[in-house]
Amino acid sequence: MEPGDPRLVDLLRGEAAPTDPLDNLVGAGRYWLEHPEHMDFLHPEAPNHRDKMLERELYLSHWIDALQGARRVLDLGGGVGRFTTWLLDQGLEVELVDPDLRSLWRAVTEAADRPGSLDVHWSTGECLPELEPVDVVIAAEVLCYVEDPAAVLSRVARVLRPGGVLLCSVEARWGWAMSQDVHYGTIDAFLGDGVVHVPGDRWVRTFEEAELRALLADFDIEALVPTHYALSGPFEAAAGLLEVEEALALEARLAAHPISRPLNRAWTVTSRLSEERSSRSI
Ligand SMILES: C[S@@+](CC[C@H](N)C(=O)[O-])C[C@H]1O[C@@H](n2cnc3c(N)ncnc32)[C@H](O)[C@@H]1O
Repeated sequence: MEPGDPRLVDLLRGEAAPTDPLDNLVGAGRYWLEHPEHMDFLHPEAPNHRDKMLERELYLSHWIDALQGARRVLDLGGGVGRFTTWLLDQGLEVELVDPDLRSLWRAVTEAADRPGSLDVHWSTGECLPELEPVDVVIAAEVLCYVEDPAAVLSRVARVLRPGGVLLCSVEARWGWAMSQDVHYGTIDAFLGDGVVHVPGDRWVRTFEEAELRALLADFDIEALVPTHYALSGPFEAAAGLLEVEEALALEARLAAHPISRPLNRAWTVTSRLSEERSSRSI
């Protein structure tokens, strides 16, 4: 699908049959109509604002070092701008790509009056626009929603400067199955290929560690960390309301415990375009 493809509009109107992953856009369109207060989570009064910001702190605690010295960042599938707003506050040049127009509109509104600069692209990871090379790509909770994550990563590799950094996260199979977000009646997906499809609602590819490592073959993985145990994970209810420092400490304890360790809801990755792949891009 090309950037701005009219089929996106048809999809959101329910007038085109989506391929399975594009069903997510139909689901997102519906959620914007039915639960705008949840989708608009950058608003301080959104019911999920606190949780989403806490998760951002968790991601940044893993990614902050790799962001040092960056000037240009691509926020791929950046949605309403959870990371874009933070990057702009650091004075960075941000390219935001997302196929959900309502999210982009929200992100642009949030970007006003912040330092840094922003270019917004209504597009997908499969159809990345031609961009000046970036130092860092952030793809937080995105590769699990695309049809062909390898194709997306190959486009990411082309937009990254040689040796550039990819920071990404994806859903982890078993922790996802045990989280509060899991959809009723989807157990076969977890026992099968890990792809959960609830038509008209969502399509999610959950990953085991080996699958994610194989997908990232063109990248040198500096850290692949199991995360999201208490934050949106299976221990969310048991953990209760946490402040940032408590949440980070609890995540570390649950990652260290032999029983809870394999029950992470997500994988959080810091990686760098390999020298070999960088030289193929030149
Ligand atoms: C779970 S949200 C994550 C949003 C944001 N990265 C964050 O962490 O707050 C997934 C995002 O991926 C976007 N998305 C879905 N399919 C995509 C695709 N093919 N290419 C790029 N982004 C996509 C959605 O529109 C949505 O904004």
